[in-house]
Amino acid sequence: MENIPAHVAIILDGNGRWAKKRGLPRTAGHAAGAKNVETITIAASNLGIRYLTLYAFSTENWKRSVEEVSTIMSLLAKYLLRCRDLAMENNIRVTFIGDLSGLDEKLHATCDSVREETAGNTGMTLTIALNYGGRDEIVRALNRLLASGERGPVTEEGFASYLDTAGQPYPDLMIRTSGEERISNFLPWQLCYSEFYFTDTAWPDFSPEELEKACEAYASRDRRFGGVK
Ligand code: IPE
Ligand code: IPE
Ligand code: MG
Repeated sequence: MENIPAHVAIILDGNGRWAKKRGLPRTAGHAAGAKNVETITIAASNLGIRYLTLYAFSTENWKRSVEEVSTIMSLLAKYLLRCRDLAMENNIRVTFIGDLSGLDEKLHATCDSVREETAGNTGMTLTIALNYGGRDEIVRALNRLLASGERGPVTEEGFASYLDTAGQPYPDLMIRTSGEERISNFLPWQLCYSEFYFTDTAWPDFSPEELEKACEAYASRDRRFGGVK
């Protein structure tokens, strides 16, 4: 495939509705969704995507029931261990964005160890957004900047170096599953010039074929970045 997006960011949405449609509890949707993360991670790596960023849990998702949040957290803990093996088998580097200090200590430690163990891999970079909120990221970045003692004026590049995504290119393509057409606090700074692709497919059903379809749609877009062609 030509003109593959270097960086694809995905809002994995629709686990709950997927389960409801099948008469299952929402938590069953999250289990199916976690399984699909493995499938799509491998598919993205095989397609030649260099960076894949997945929105797994937002700063607003704590508003859900205690039961749902704790199921998501235990699925995450389990998934991260699978993810480490998968990453080692496929030369994938795993990184995280979001406020990991707001997570359970054990889960936070698992994130750190997965990041460290896969740091030397040279294939795709998989970034998992966990306890991530774009506004929260910008405020944390601002506080880091102030704490560094750096004096203004601050440039765009200078400010971006304090974001969780420092060192990574901005997403070329942002995909959201399950019909909603909004960003829900996902990467507001980084998505300024990204192409958006929305699909009605719920995340557990989002297939490697549909990922390819989204990449094909991306390839036919005319990105102008404010200029003229
Ligand atoms: C996405 O699916 C997963 C998370 C936000 C953790 P949802 O749980 O939002 O599923 P819907 O949108 O309610 O169907
Ligand atoms: C966005 O989905 C968050 C994640 C996918 C992790 P939500 O389901 O939380 O977003 P809203 O509530 O529909 O905007
Ligand atoms: Mg949702």
